Amino acid sequence: MNPFCWNENHAVGLPEIDADHRAPLRMAYDEIESGTVRDWLDGLLARLAAYAQFHFESEEALMRRTRFPEYPQHRREHESFAVTISCLRTLSRSECADVTETLMEFLGSWIEQHTCGEDHRIVEHIKRVEPDIHELRNASKED
Ligand SMILES: [Fe+2]
Ligand SMILES: [Fe+2]
Repeated sequence: MNPFCWNENHAVGLPEIDADHRAPLRMAYDEIESGTVRDWLDGLLARLAAYAQFHFESEEALMRRTRFPEYPQHRREHESFAVTISCLRTLSRSECADVTETLMEFLGSWIEQHTCGEDHRIVEHIKRVEPDIHELRNASKED
């Protein structure tokens, strides 16, 4: 699977979350367009680390606000993403490993399993506990 390719199957249905989910793919494109492989890889890993921090904080705040029962497990997955990116960056900088392929496989599997799986569960939960808010957001999207 090409992790740089976004399609509507990846969407969870909440515009602000979907915009966040598209961000790492845009980052990858931007980094590939510039500099050497080594530079773009380090730049991409740095941007993914920053992305993880802001997106996960936002998603976790949403889970806490709506009392999502699977919050602890979901948060652990976010933590493991951040740890993996940090390890890959350390490995990449040590000059003894090209982590490009590992990173691509990791991102592909993250989108398939976390974004398309676990993140959908948050939205299903919100639809159940706050159906009015969800409908309001969809209505404002159509305006
Ligand atoms: Fe997410
Ligand atoms: Fe998530």
